[in-house]
Amino acid sequence: MRGIILAGGTGTRLWPVTRSVSKQLMPVFDKPMIYYPLSVLIDNGIREIMIITTPREHDQFRGLLGDGSQWGIRIEYGLQERPEGIAQAFLIAERFLDGRPVVLILGDNLFHGIDFRDRTGGPEMTGGHIFAYPVVDPSAYGVVEFDESGHVLSIVEKPRNPLSRYAVPGLYLYDADVVKIAQSLTPSARGELEITAVNEEYRRRGTLTVSVLGRGAVWLDTGTFSDLVHAAEYVRVIEQRQGLKVGCVDESAWRAGLITDDQLRSLADPLTRSGYGEYLHGLLEWRTGTGRIA
Ligand code: DAU
Repeated sequence: MRGIILAGGTGTRLWPVTRSVSKQLMPVFDKPMIYYPLSVLIDNGIREIMIITTPREHDQFRGLLGDGSQWGIRIEYGLQERPEGIAQAFLIAERFLDGRPVVLILGDNLFHGIDFRDRTGGPEMTGGHIFAYPVVDPSAYGVVEFDESGHVLSIVEKPRNPLSRYAVPGLYLYDADVVKIAQSLTPSARGELEITAVNEEYRRRGTLTVSVLGRGAVWLDTGTFSDLVHAAEYVRVIEQRQGLKVGCVDESAWRAGLITDDQLRSLADPLTRSGYGEYLHGLLEWRTGTGRIA
């Protein structure tokens, strides 16, 4: 299974802050926003990832993340000329996907404690799989209604009167058919190829399933200034309590065995002044039994 992180868009809801800097490069406490979805993919076994950006912001992402080899993964880049919808990601990534199933994660969604490895079974994955997460105001999201066996009854994009309190987070798993489905879509009233229309097509075929994210799992939005502060505060609270970082790509790669202790050390060395590098060094000390960090 290959991964896509969609990190384009105009970010107008955060202007002027995101007028000249990509939203997904903004900090969420102590690291750029894109680190969070990237570490989720690595934690869940994804090793080949396409990051889709606007043409203007591509160099900044490449400058930050490179080709992924420093983390033992492969990162490719795709360009989205205009923000014409989330489902356009599958058209941009068609060659990269090369007929494989895919997990798409939105670059501005922050997840913590989420494990979907049992859903990434490889080429035998069929249909589509989405997640459901209870929120107080689901009308800002895609909203899913489902039966007890996890079959989806309806999905509505930003409904005025939601039929359930379950929002659909920006994390989607699809088989290889998703490219053809995206090709068959027409733009919605807001001029976008809607991800909800992709899900609706899988639902119509009877192959869309949904699972509720456990109550211990965290999904936070970063859509508004307040959301951004809440997300940063969440990360700060957890990190300062546990002494463990959330969304630390270097740590994810090391824990997954993709890089050696020596490689982690050389990633850490230039980062010591911010404390981030000290943290990585601390992980190694723990490994050798001399440190305190678990
Ligand atoms: O956050 C989850 C929600 O994301 C889902 O519940 C909705 O069903 C889905 O439509 C989407 O809702 P939004 O309308 O709030 O998405 P937004 O336009 O804010 O875009 C989400 C991210 O995707 C954001 O980081 C920008 C990026 N994006 C979006 C579009 C439309 C792109 O990179 N290109 C695009 O064309």
